[in-house]
Amino acid sequence: MRAKIIITDNYQLMSEAAARLVIEQIKKKPNAVLGLATGATPIGLYENLVKAAWLKTVSLSQTKAFLLDEYVGLNKADSRSFHYFIKNKLFDRVDIKKENTFIPDGQAQDLKKECASYESLIKRHGGIDLLILGIGLNGHLAFDEPGSEIDSKTRVVKLKEQTRRANAAYFKKPSQVPRQGITIGLGTIMKARKIILLAAGENKAGVIRRALKGKITKSVPASILQTHKNLTVVLDQAAAGELMAGGKRRK
Ligand code: F6R
Repeated sequence: MRAKIIITDNYQLMSEAAARLVIEQIKKKPNAVLGLATGATPIGLYENLVKAAWLKTVSLSQTKAFLLDEYVGLNKADSRSFHYFIKNKLFDRVDIKKENTFIPDGQAQDLKKECASYESLIKRHGGIDLLILGIGLNGHLAFDEPGSEIDSKTRVVKLKEQTRRANAAYFKKPSQVPRQGITIGLGTIMKARKIILLAAGENKAGVIRRALKGKITKSVPASILQTHKNLTVVLDQAAAGELMAGGKRRK
């Protein structure tokens, strides 16, 4: 495996290390195209980016950003939508231009058309330069659940029960968690020129081992990342706990 693995002592240091990589990319290419995950894991990274933009260490004024996924059926203004999440955590707090931010519309009349145009929008912008990924407990990336095809594109998917359970904390009742999502595909992910995979916490240790050291298999979608040419994995100690000798300690 050619991935670079950075193991940090805790979540805060993981977030800082990841933010440094994103800032480095934006400085090198101010109009870089980013791909952004939501979820608990990248929150610290986004906080560090907000801080850096506020201190004017970096400017996102030319940067473009595509969100990886969205629930089907939730209104943009719904606080549980990924739309709301990314605006609240990042877009509304940095100098990125609204016209340079892209989020799949989970309420589109024609979802199939929405998926196709999202995929071509990414292409029209020259593809993703830097993609930030989290990982689900079942090895999913974005909403690409186990069984997803390696060359899949942006599409509507059925969410696995494990994923719905993991996301239930954001909803009053588990039954309110949407059953479908729009997600960029594994093929879309693999086309990104650089990928940063983030994971924190002991509960991610098993899936990180399976993804990075296990067999490359459809049943662990993240295992496909082993074949990516420019992957950096940033972990905290706990998430790296099962990598053992394979992981290089750098920080
Ligand atoms: C969400 C996304 C998901 C999450 C994954 C981990 O946009 O891409 O694949 O990255 O479900 O979620 P957290 O970080 O909440 O553990």
